[in-house]
Amino acid sequence: VITSHSNSRLQLVRRLQRARDRRDLGLFVAEGEDLLAAADAAGWAPEERLAAAGSGLPGEEVEPELLARASSLGSGTRTLGIFRQRWAEAPAGPRCVALWGVRDPGNVGAVLRSGLAFGVSCVALGPDTADPWSPKAVRASMGAVFAVPLARSSHPSTLPPPRIALVARAGTPLRGPAEPFTLVVGAEREGLPGEVVEACEQTAHIPIASESLNAAMATTIALYELTR
Ligand SMILES: C[S@@+](CC[C@H](N)C(=O)[O-])C[C@H]1O[C@@H](n2cnc3c(N)ncnc32)[C@H](O)[C@@H]1O
Repeated sequence: VITSHSNSRLQLVRRLQRARDRRDLGLFVAEGEDLLAAADAAGWAPEERLAAAGSGLPGEEVEPELLARASSLGSGTRTLGIFRQRWAEAPAGPRCVALWGVRDPGNVGAVLRSGLAFGVSCVALGPDTADPWSPKAVRASMGAVFAVPLARSSHPSTLPPPRIALVARAGTPLRGPAEPFTLVVGAEREGLPGEVVEACEQTAHIPIASESLNAAMATTIALYELTR
């Protein structure tokens, strides 16, 4: 049973709350029985698996209070796993979603969750997009982070065509079903940069009565329309 706060595994768990350490080490943490069950179901084996002593859960046992202190959750956790990040070589069709400057990790996780629901082949992360392996994104994905291929993209030309720029109040009303597609979604505040919109084959909007939708909501509605 791990009984010391300075145990190397617990130190690693705490380090992985920092974006820089996640990037440098290529690792991330998933907390809680539901997320670890999703990882198991998707065939992801953790590098380390820790469980509160006496919980009966699989993994190396840790004093419950020490595990709670290492947790990113205010309520603590009964179990967690340290996993190696997986990145696809490149964004892939036929159903790709590209997030461009979506800074809220909760939105990134919610898009992964929708992406899994609508059978996307890839979620591509453009510049200035939140880390999908952050504790908040992993939690918001409800385990979809283990099932949806993730890729990086530095320029829209790397995205499989045809690319649809999703812009509130611009272009044509979005009409589906349509496949293949890459749906390009913009930042919470600024939306999509003009040069990214120009690099896309099509610009489309979801007709609404207000200014705009939340980025993850817009993605979900658009995926429904394109795949129904
Ligand atoms: C909160 S919105 C950005 C609002 C920003 N002020 C703008 O006007 O583009 C975040 C992203 O969600 C998508 N989005 C939100 N509402 C949309 C709508 N009605 N039609 C198409 N896309 C929408 C766009 O990709 C947008 O870049």
